[in-house]
Amino acid sequence: MSTITVTPCSGAGAEILGVDLKQLHDDELALIRQAYADYGVIFFRDQSLTEEDHIALARRFGEINVNRFFAAHPAYPEIAMVLKEAEQTTNIGGGWHTDHSYDHDPAMGSILVARELPPSGGDTMFVSMYTAFDGLSDGLKQTLRGLRAVHSARHVFGAGQGYHKDTDAGGNRIGNSAAAEALTDPVHPVIIRHPLSGKEALYINPAFTLHFEGWTPEESAPLLEYLYSCCVQEENVCRFQWQPGSVAFWDNRSTWHNAANDYHGARREMHRITIDGCPLEAA
Ligand code: SIN
Repeated sequence: MSTITVTPCSGAGAEILGVDLKQLHDDELALIRQAYADYGVIFFRDQSLTEEDHIALARRFGEINVNRFFAAHPAYPEIAMVLKEAEQTTNIGGGWHTDHSYDHDPAMGSILVARELPPSGGDTMFVSMYTAFDGLSDGLKQTLRGLRAVHSARHVFGAGQGYHKDTDAGGNRIGNSAAAEALTDPVHPVIIRHPLSGKEALYINPAFTLHFEGWTPEESAPLLEYLYSCCVQEENVCRFQWQPGSVAFWDNRSTWHNAANDYHGARREMHRITIDGCPLEAA
């Protein structure tokens, strides 16, 4: 095994150097799994993954969840295209969110590979839901442990909603609105016991959480907004600057992410593979 270093980033996550993701030995895989559970998002540099390597890597962590809404790679349906053309103004994944909280068994995580980057900008920001939870008072933590929240995707991926309000954003990048309208809204614990780390994490997000179970949206909004503001405190945010060969692997149950849309006039192409998860248990 080569010398592997795991260096925590400021705010959230860790950078892992000294591995080749194309040929991971079992002991390297075990180290990566542990870092993923501990930090919620892990970053790699100077990789040279083909599309087949990307798929093979994802399969070492679980079953691939073929995206219902994002355009697929023309040759590899397992890969979702996260694309912004130079003439487009809206990006995919702008705004704080975690992927797939609108599913009853939310996805475990996603592996994002940089394929074409703008000359500058296009960073991805992450926050840790472990840190966000830890920062709350004991009293609020205890109240939240008793709550569940309703999540949905219809207002984001449904016909005439979210991405489809803007043909530039929808267009041929996001589709299949019928699948969004057919979803039934899941209810998840607000504080989960993380399935890998066993730690408590806050599990709500601004994109897909509608309201607390048994509360109206109006009653829920002030507490949700307060919690969201705690999550994105500057000291909780990691800003990952992509370079050719960079790879990010995040856990959807313990992090949020937000793709910066600050590179108008340039093209950015990322390839994302999402891995199936499991039902979430309350803490
Ligand atoms: C996403 O939300 O999956 C996209 C993240 C990015 O493009 O940086």
